[in-house]
Amino acid sequence: MRQIESRIDVGSDGHATNRAAYAAMLEELRERMQWAIDGGPKRERSIERHLERGKVMVRDRIDMVIDDGSPFLELSTLAGWGQYDDEAPGAGIVTGIGLVHGVPWMFIANDATVKGGSLLPASIKKHVRAQDIAAENDLGCIYLVDSGGAFLPLQDEVFPDKDHFGGSFYRQARMSACGLPQLSVVLGGSTAGGAYVPALSDEVVMVEGIGRIYLGGPPIVKAALGEIVEPDDLGGARIHTHVSGVADYIAADEAEAYAKLREICLTTNRRRIDDRQSWLDRIEPEPPAHHPTELYGVISADPRIPFEAHEIIARIVDGSRFAEFKPDWGESVVCGFARVWGHLVGVLANNGIIFNESALKATHFIELCEQRRIPLLFLQNTSGYMVGKDSEAAGIAKNGAKMVAAVANATVPKYTVLVGGSYGAGNYGMCGRGFNPRFLFTWPNSRIATMSAETAQTVLVDIRLAGLRGDQTSEEEIARLRAEVAEQYETHSDPYYATSRLWDDGIIDPADTRDVLGLCLSLAAIQDEPAPGPGLVYRM
Ligand code: COA
Repeated sequence: MRQIESRIDVGSDGHATNRAAYAAMLEELRERMQWAIDGGPKRERSIERHLERGKVMVRDRIDMVIDDGSPFLELSTLAGWGQYDDEAPGAGIVTGIGLVHGVPWMFIANDATVKGGSLLPASIKKHVRAQDIAAENDLGCIYLVDSGGAFLPLQDEVFPDKDHFGGSFYRQARMSACGLPQLSVVLGGSTAGGAYVPALSDEVVMVEGIGRIYLGGPPIVKAALGEIVEPDDLGGARIHTHVSGVADYIAADEAEAYAKLREICLTTNRRRIDDRQSWLDRIEPEPPAHHPTELYGVISADPRIPFEAHEIIARIVDGSRFAEFKPDWGESVVCGFARVWGHLVGVLANNGIIFNESALKATHFIELCEQRRIPLLFLQNTSGYMVGKDSEAAGIAKNGAKMVAAVANATVPKYTVLVGGSYGAGNYGMCGRGFNPRFLFTWPNSRIATMSAETAQTVLVDIRLAGLRGDQTSEEEIARLRAEVAEQYETHSDPYYATSRLWDDGIIDPADTRDVLGLCLSLAAIQDEPAPGPGLVYRM
């Protein structure tokens, strides 16, 4: 494969300006990540109390379970950001992928220092999303349970619907039936519905003195039956391991519990991440010829100035090597083959608006990858499909639909990174959240919306003027409408607004993109090959 020749002068003033602007964005990302880890009002007191009880902080718990020195890919760290009066850093739950004896596992761990580890709407979405990732990537799940269950003041938003609390138990039971081990360590509350997390697990460890499982806690038992009972006598580790059999192993403390958990993991007969037998083509990895940190200077500080897709690809893929498909046709979608950490992938990257030819080329390329069983990597940076008389007459709606249909039906693993704008149907054709990429990550400079704030102002003002209220609309009202729309679109297209609502799996530092994708691809590599799908009808 030929190496991409960069046209960027990394010593130029423009590059330095871009780097400085990006450094500020990364600083903001790091501060907000840190806030998710230890911030939030009243949190200090909760953390103190948690530690006084001899309990370990949630991320340290995960560290105690995973292999020494191995990476942990934390997902959606900023879920809940800017919501719930800023009282729910990380939405009170930590999810991510870590290695135990070299085998990848999905961790779902409650953070009892945030609202008692109870599940807010963003928390349940994060819990269920982690389970969906586990199911699709054939990962067993490890639940570190320390939770007040459903967040009761918002019970209508976490309890009744399909992907709410019930949906998490449905997934747990189905994954177990598919042979994906479900293991729990109970380190705190596991009450009412929450009791089903351990109860539906294949094996359960409980820590004496802190772990409690009951369908109704002592206050409910007193109200319902008049019985007065101590929490440990009702649902402590001793009762459940010696009397009820709800749990399987008792541990004196957290360290002993994690040692037991690691021993259980050894008996689950799962494939290790370094298993070389794979349906995916993989060779020895090679670092990019152009350093990934140069991405900070490639991305324009001014969002109106576009940046080149090849320059992005060159800083993500092995050896910056790229075998480009149809390089001289439909240039606004760059397609080609490359390797990420040795894994062969088909890359689709935008260079602005998607035109008719670009949509057809992308469709052709997706079909090629599907036929050759090569994973797809989408790098989104588009304002959408081309509009206008000529484009419509050339059939942009049906050509865009071919691309969208090809993406929807591709059965090979798909991965998406928002490296810039993700607007309009471009989001669909380039495998946005609705098209089930296995993982979707965003960069701090990305934006996601139906259209840009500038376009939305014009469109909404034009709609008002053409409508029934058009005649009575004053200049002042138009100015107010423009300002309102601009503010709304800017807020709603912000990547932090998106990540708070789990529209992605997390905001990442562009320089980490290659490593994050490498880990995601290595999960697919140790799976069985997904079955190819049926042929589809293309509107010609
Ligand atoms: N819904 C809403 N808030 C909850 C909650 C829930 N299910 N569980 C805990 N919280 C809140 C508490 O109100 C408290 O909030 P505050 O700090 O604003 O006062 C915070 O979480 C910490 O709870 P607290 O009881 O002080 O902590 P604890 O460590 O002593 O006990 C639990 C933790 C989880 C054992 C205990 O809070 C509990 O039993 N919660 C209710 C469990 C339940 O019945 N759930 C039913 C779900 S269907």
